[in-house]
Amino acid sequence: MSEFNAVKGTKDFYGQEAFALREIENIFRASASLFGYEEMETPILENYALFARGAGEGSDVVRKEMYDFNDKGGRRLALRPEFTAGILRAIVTNKLYANPDLPLRYFYSGPAFRYERPQLGRYREFHQFGIEAVGVNDPLLDVETLMVALTAFSLLKFPSLKVKINSLGDEKTRTSYRDALRKYYADKLDVVCEDCKERFRLNPLRMLDCKVESDHLLSLDAPKLSDYLSEESKARFEKTKAYLDEFGIAYEVDTSLVRGLDYYTEFIYEIHAFSPSGKDYGALGGGGHYDGLLKEVGGPDYSGVGFAVGEERILSLLDEFGLRKNEPIVDVILLPIGEEALPYAQKLANEVRLLGYAVETPLKSMKINAAFKKAERKGASLAILFGEEEIKEGKLQIKDLAKAEQKEIMRENLAQTLDEFFQKEEEE
Ligand code: HAM
Repeated sequence: MSEFNAVKGTKDFYGQEAFALREIENIFRASASLFGYEEMETPILENYALFARGAGEGSDVVRKEMYDFNDKGGRRLALRPEFTAGILRAIVTNKLYANPDLPLRYFYSGPAFRYERPQLGRYREFHQFGIEAVGVNDPLLDVETLMVALTAFSLLKFPSLKVKINSLGDEKTRTSYRDALRKYYADKLDVVCEDCKERFRLNPLRMLDCKVESDHLLSLDAPKLSDYLSEESKARFEKTKAYLDEFGIAYEVDTSLVRGLDYYTEFIYEIHAFSPSGKDYGALGGGGHYDGLLKEVGGPDYSGVGFAVGEERILSLLDEFGLRKNEPIVDVILLPIGEEALPYAQKLANEVRLLGYAVETPLKSMKINAAFKKAERKGASLAILFGEEEIKEGKLQIKDLAKAEQKEIMRENLAQTLDEFFQKEEEE
């Protein structure tokens, strides 16, 4: 393996694919903005301890998947494996919790890093978009976050989503459930995998989503969390479901849903989709409510709720559904006929740009057929042709490339002609 290969599990994005990834992000940003969320950008680098405490020492993300290292000053740092802990840290660092307008509502996006086995929809560096709403404990706010995600998916015209929900209950629920799990697994520790032995010690809840087949089978007979929900948590979950019903959000209660990070309490959810060819890219996004996290990172005892989606997974599915649109690289292509027309072409190019239309600087005069082929590759919908004669007479030939219709216009009518053409194109 050459040291100049891309790092395993990373991916280069360029051209149309980079554009499509940005488009996904833009649509999620637009959705979050519609709900009154503001942007927050936090560092990729954080102290290791933040994630160990935040995401939970019992989670695979912290135990096995963190890119952590000592910097040259001996500080133990990590590349963020997720955003939530960093966002809450920033809320504390900047004392944003001292705000009359709670909840705080923030959205964020950028790369995250997990040392996972690369496979379909799973990278070591990937992009997330997410939101956090912090400072108010209300099932309505929990549901709001799910609505932000679903609004974005509907703006993306995404077909066939499945929302899975569950309740992890409050602290009381979790303590009694953990005890029940420890009791169930106590005499089975010699048959579970090495990881599960450690999970048993750190957080037995994590044993339920072990990927080892025999452990998975064991988990099927384990006590069910739903049987241990406290009365308060049960009532809260009922209220959450009533809101979902009221807003017409379809969902499936999946009592085996636990999520991969330790901070969740009460309502959790995941958004799944199946591709037309039946490929499973895993969850497109997930999130839920958390109670002790802000306090854990040094803030007041406020609850929060949020979700994150994986942008690469959404992109792959949009591709499979044929929903990804190619974006034109230029709107207009200029065809100077003959070398003498080149200087004129430069001036015209600047004029077209100032009118708001994208056009490349023509560097040489091209043969007409080659130029039209290039126009197609670049996604241009209009060509402007001119040679010595047009320049002398102050005229331009305008060609609608899709319809193969050409007409002559006076140069002073260029702005009007372009505006009319592109307005009509937008309407069609
Ligand atoms: P998560 O479920 O760990 O949640 O990740 C959210 C999404 O990121 C996943 O559903 C998936 O689409 C994507 N993702 C995760 N790992 C990878 C990977 N290795 N390669 C590609 N995509 C991946 C969180 O990160 C929580 N912070 C969400 C949250 C926010 N909960 C409350 N607030």
